[in-house]
Amino acid sequence: MKTTISVIKADIGSIGGHIRPSQRLIKRVAEYIEDEGRDIVYDFFVSHTGDDVAILFTHSHGVGSEAVHKLAWDAFVAGTAIAKEQGLYGAGQDLLKDAFSGNVKGMGPAVAEMEIEERPNEPFLFFAADKTDPGAYNLPLFLGFADPMYNSGLILSPNMEKGFTFHIMDVDYTEGDRLIELNTPEDLYDIAALLRDNERFVIESIYSRGTGEIAAVVSTTRLHNIAGKYTGKDDPVMLVRVQGAFPATGEVLAPFNIGHYVAGFMRGSHTGPLMPVKMNSPVSYFDGPPVVACMAFCVHKGKLTEPADAFDHPYWDYVRANVSRKATELRQQGFSGMAMLPYSELEYGGIVEKMKKLDPKFKIRGK
Ligand code: 13P
Ligand code: 13P
Ligand code: MG
Ligand code: MG
Repeated sequence: MKTTISVIKADIGSIGGHIRPSQRLIKRVAEYIEDEGRDIVYDFFVSHTGDDVAILFTHSHGVGSEAVHKLAWDAFVAGTAIAKEQGLYGAGQDLLKDAFSGNVKGMGPAVAEMEIEERPNEPFLFFAADKTDPGAYNLPLFLGFADPMYNSGLILSPNMEKGFTFHIMDVDYTEGDRLIELNTPEDLYDIAALLRDNERFVIESIYSRGTGEIAAVVSTTRLHNIAGKYTGKDDPVMLVRVQGAFPATGEVLAPFNIGHYVAGFMRGSHTGPLMPVKMNSPVSYFDGPPVVACMAFCVHKGKLTEPADAFDHPYWDYVRANVSRKATELRQQGFSGMAMLPYSELEYGGIVEKMKKLDPKFKIRGK
């Protein structure tokens, strides 16, 4: 049976700054889909990660379905009405341009979808990150799919011996989707050379070379805005199929113990370590640190199980403590050097104005 799994995510308002949405807002989004979406989708699940609300759908309409996207949009509009009623911060942030809250992010919701031929058992992982951008998934995907130091199945299982095809997008290109396809294991060094640059080259999807099936998909598309201009960062979502021809769940999760430094954090303008958190976690310290949640599901005949909260385990408490230490250490140097993103990546226009004001005040000595 063919099933489409879609996750559509937006920030439509949050309590106390960019921390988390209200319970009423989340309830309203879910109610809207319950009331209006029953004929459109097989099943759905609503969660939040930091201030972003994500709707996970299963349905029969394929990737890019107008009906499903409209359902999500309308549910977000319904949730935005609650956000406005409650006076939440940044109400409708990712839906309305007039809800501009001080940075250039948020032209529209983020989307990751895949149409699959359901296996008799179909386990998959849904990741949602806040206060970072899609390049945050580059390193964990590379290690989880292509490095036997993390993916023992590359050695132990014949199912993965042919490797994977990585589709990598150049998100600096704004005229359309500029993509390259590279294969593991033979193109490993080329893949690494690109993925090193998390702000420019982003994994869009991964396919099994053994079966040709889609393995992973990341929300990269809205990095080009409607006007054909770079919009900056987005809090990215991702779907990853696991087991069988794909890595085991634990192999995909393993690289998240690094807490690697990513772009985002406060005002989308800093560097911070990516912290694996439990489902429905807020952010906190310095509007962060950047967080990622992972909900594991099985889908069968379009029906979702309840989620298993993949980072809700004592092991990840230890990781979270390490990541907190990494965050604190880098924050000690405030705005200096690599603690803040380079000028080209800064999300706030204020710095541009400041530089314009300062520029004429420079004098060349002796002239
Ligand atoms: P089980 O024997 O528990 O199914 O585990 C197999 C496996 O591949 C775990 O990574
Ligand atoms: P969000 O993109 O999650 O709304 O965060 C914006 C921000 O400026 C946090 O400091
Ligand atoms: Mg926000
Ligand atoms: Mg957010």
